Amino acid sequence: MSPQIRDVERMVEPVMVSEGAGVRLKRTIASRKLDYLDPFLLLDHFGSDNPADYLAGFPMHPHRGIETVTYMLEGFVRHKDSLGNAGTIGPGDVQWMTAGSGIMHEEMPRPDGNRMYGFQLWVNLPAKRKMTRPRYQEFAADKIPEVEGDGGSRVRVVAGEAAGVQGPVREIAISPTYLDVEVPARSTFTHPVERGHTAFAYAFEGQGSFGPNGEVISALSLVIYGDGDRVQVRAGKEPLRFLLVSGKPLHEPVARYGPFVMNTREEIQQALHDLRDGTFVKVQPQTESDSWYGSALLDRKEGDRG
Ligand code: CO
Repeated sequence: MSPQIRDVERMVEPVMVSEGAGVRLKRTIASRKLDYLDPFLLLDHFGSDNPADYLAGFPMHPHRGIETVTYMLEGFVRHKDSLGNAGTIGPGDVQWMTAGSGIMHEEMPRPDGNRMYGFQLWVNLPAKRKMTRPRYQEFAADKIPEVEGDGGSRVRVVAGEAAGVQGPVREIAISPTYLDVEVPARSTFTHPVERGHTAFAYAFEGQGSFGPNGEVISALSLVIYGDGDRVQVRAGKEPLRFLLVSGKPLHEPVARYGPFVMNTREEIQQALHDLRDGTFVKVQPQTESDSWYGSALLDRKEGDRG
């Protein structure tokens, strides 16, 4: 079979939603237009010049069964979590958080400066990793390689590979690619994407064509690709900037309730039960070595569920 350029299968424009303590977000995946793009559960683009749109932030809340990926363009978010981590992520930084068996965290905008922009993506975990030990990978902007792609494009490699350079986020179940790509006006960028992997682009500046048929798509748009071996993007008369994200689909049942995404309703009920009786967080700070709990859950087999 000769290499095939992926067609644009579908386009989704963001809808405005309010989350956390009243943060205004532009949502594409997990909106009424698009429930799930296996293995991607949610994509929020937060961005505003008005602090009132985001200052309320995301006070302490739980996650289980997923990974949350925060990639900042502008502004600063302070975070802390039940593993004992705390810090600030700023422009160009990424935090890839594997909630696994359960994490409590808060994400609060730092109230200096007037602008805040960035993305949060939720990545599903396969059934056998849903209750894995929580961990996170956080990288400052200067640890994220920037490479020159074809057509003079500039590519920041968060995960996966571009121009032979690998991003710092590693050992993620779905083998993701996560690139921040800027293509100069009227230039063409191509990038290989593994056949069978789900792929999308999220255009957030400029306009261009994302497939071989040349249809022009303007920011803000989520572009969902059909299958193939590579994507081909051509910028219009202005530079085009987009996220290019891909990953291996899971093809597993999804039971979803707010910040918990499991495979069955019973597992969701278990999460709610754990939250009520104070056993939700399985891994505390200072329990880095395998505890009474860790190995049993990490080795849990699919057949043990429910
Ligand atoms: Co969160």
